[in-house]
Amino acid sequence: MKNYYKKYGDYALITGASSGIGKEFAVQLAAKRLNLILVARRKNRLDEVAKELEVKYKIKVRTIELDLLDDKAIDTLVLQTNDLNIGLLIPNAGMEVHGDFVTNDYKAESNVVKLNTLIPMQLAHVFGSKMKTRKKGGIIFISSTFGHQSVPYFANYSASKAYILSIGQALNYELKKFGVDVTVLSPGLTKTEMVDGMKDINFGKMPIVEMKVKPVVKKGIKALGRKQATIPGTRNIFMDLMGKFTTPRWMLTNMFGFLVSRAMK
Ligand SMILES: NC(=O)c1ccc[n+]([C@@H]2O[C@H](COP(=O)([O-])OP(=O)(O)OC[C@H]3O[C@@H](n4cnc5c(N)ncnc54)[C@H](OP(=O)(O)O)[C@@H]3O)[C@@H](O)[C@H]2O)c1
Repeated sequence: MKNYYKKYGDYALITGASSGIGKEFAVQLAAKRLNLILVARRKNRLDEVAKELEVKYKIKVRTIELDLLDDKAIDTLVLQTNDLNIGLLIPNAGMEVHGDFVTNDYKAESNVVKLNTLIPMQLAHVFGSKMKTRKKGGIIFISSTFGHQSVPYFANYSASKAYILSIGQALNYELKKFGVDVTVLSPGLTKTEMVDGMKDINFGKMPIVEMKVKPVVKKGIKALGRKQATIPGTRNIFMDLMGKFTTPRWMLTNMFGFLVSRAMK
């Protein structure tokens, strides 16, 4: 896509832009001269990113401090962005809970479902309908390679990411005829605060390689308007193809159960 601004301007709305993958989306989209709306709870972080990008790329950035788990979060976001044309939505904010599902706090597990599925669905509905009316726009959903099969000890998280993969691919079809592009980015293990926080898991014991945010996000941006879904990283793509075409789903679940339990200290 040569003219990202023409197709996806004026503003890109990115949730979870205070760190990791969301912050990198802000950086790469600013370089394409898109104006930005950055959403997260840590306003100071958002403001730092905003200041840097406004100066470097001469774009406009609005920062919104918001806990997306608040019941009025979507209403608040709509109210605070009503005056802007949002041409690109990246509902990226997410959280994970891992370990024994039944011993985990059920409220934390419920928050995973809300933040990872309900909120992206609602955002896609609200902003996708405006894009449909304007006959242009784009949505990049963030799933995970863990959403491509059931992963024991990440049971609820992997299920939430399977939902995102499913709804994103379906919306790609539904919205295409209205000029709205939808894609799903499924990163594998990526170096972010989320992964740094999983101190009880030794990912070195799993046959996966940690990627940096830059190539992950680049792949997502490139896929928009071209692909229904995309996985960054040759090893991740290979693992996905192996899983899909050589191993029955029940066997993959068992394999991941073995690998994750071995990696958990
Ligand atoms: N890292 C990986 O290996 C990996 C792999 C596959 C998929 N993903 C997905 O990528 C997305 C981004 O994660 P990341 O790895 O970049 O992690 P991260 O660095 O921890 O970023 C998570 C972002 O979500 C925001 N957030 C969390 N809870 C929120 C809430 N209640 N309200 C508003 N914002 C909230 C955080 O901001 P505040 O704390 O400031 O609110 C932060 O900006 C997630 O959907 C994740 O599932 C990550």
